[in-house]
Amino acid sequence: MYLQHLHLQHFRNYTDQAVTFQGQQTILIGDNAQGKSNLLEAIVLLATLHSPRVQRDADLIQSGQTLAQIQGYVLRQPDPAELALVLRASGRRTWMVNQQVQRRQVDFLGYLRAVFFSCLDLELVRGSPGQRRDWLDQTLVQLEPLYSQLLQDYQRVVRQRNALLRQDTVTPAQLAPWDDLLIQTGARLIRRRYQLVERLQPLAQTWHHRISQSKEVLTVRYAPAVPVSVNDTEAIRTEFQRQLAAKALAERMQKTTLVGPHRDEVIFTLDGQLARHYASQGQQRTLVLALKLAELELLETVFGETPLLLLDDVLAELDQKRQRHLLTVIADRVQTIITTTDLARFEPPWLTHAQQLYVEQGRIWPRE
Ligand SMILES: Nc1ncnc2c1ncn2[C@@H]1O[C@H](COP(=O)(O)OP(=O)(O)OP(=O)(O)O)[C@@H](O)[C@H]1O
Ligand SMILES: [Mg+2]
Repeated sequence: MYLQHLHLQHFRNYTDQAVTFQGQQTILIGDNAQGKSNLLEAIVLLATLHSPRVQRDADLIQSGQTLAQIQGYVLRQPDPAELALVLRASGRRTWMVNQQVQRRQVDFLGYLRAVFFSCLDLELVRGSPGQRRDWLDQTLVQLEPLYSQLLQDYQRVVRQRNALLRQDTVTPAQLAPWDDLLIQTGARLIRRRYQLVERLQPLAQTWHHRISQSKEVLTVRYAPAVPVSVNDTEAIRTEFQRQLAAKALAERMQKTTLVGPHRDEVIFTLDGQLARHYASQGQQRTLVLALKLAELELLETVFGETPLLLLDDVLAELDQKRQRHLLTVIADRVQTIITTTDLARFEPPWLTHAQQLYVEQGRIWPRE
């Protein structure tokens, strides 16, 4: 797929800016705080309806405004699509496909797919488990748009169950229907995450081997809070129920839900060593790049169309060998949008073909 055109109105520091992309590679060049990451964030929002940086839509709207709009024109099979997302300070959103308002998120998701890689992702290795869960969730949303509904349902069940647990007078009978809902929705989440990691693991391992050209073996392992060894929803439910019963007292004491996929973990190892304790910064970067390329390959295989690759300030940090390798991998196959503060840090082959755009204070223009 190809994002041909993007139009931002009152989004972050953009007042009214249109961009037409040309060629397979675009480099956005600008000093710090000019709007490079903001532009990539807008594309990620069209792809996932999720900002990689903030929770509240109010932060995405230009200061002093009440409404922001992101529009994109995507060339894809079988037909091109015009996407629009309206954000309001109140948090209410409108999403449109070809000027038709869509009621459900699933009717909007899937028209544009993108893999986003920023320095925030380097936290995937060392950061909190929540960041790794978020990564699984955002990948699943693009693979299976219905997952976003499932995730929202699960999160609502956890919130409501926690609200009950905070009441001192709550009885097991009152909790029982919420236990059931937690198990039903939670088991479906666990199964999907489990399957995703199963599919990503061999791809990530191969990419890691190719990019690092080392003998180190990467493993990616899903470690659900409800341990499962089989890809079987019934087995997951039984184990979930058992753990809930075992933790019932602790949950009453701590007044919060202690069992379920909101406490899942993903574990990365290099040659059997925990990457979070062992990997150098360069190794972490290579590991995350391998994960992102695995994600790209998986989306490409499943849908038969290549997603966009968005690289926010990470390319120039790679050494020449890895840059060159990345270039051969994506070649002219993948629409890639890259941000940088410094063109000089790019390998010459990157520069010869790429469209070069300057970004300054929320305005964009082509480099002469
Ligand atoms: N809601 C908003 N309204 C107006 N301006 C905003 C809003 N949110 C962010 N900004 C501005 O956008 C700028 C940051 O943009 P962005 O993160 O895209 O920078 P960048 O070009 O990627 O910089 P860096 O090279 O440091 O990563 C900041 O100056 C910030 O003040
Ligand atoms: Mg930035």
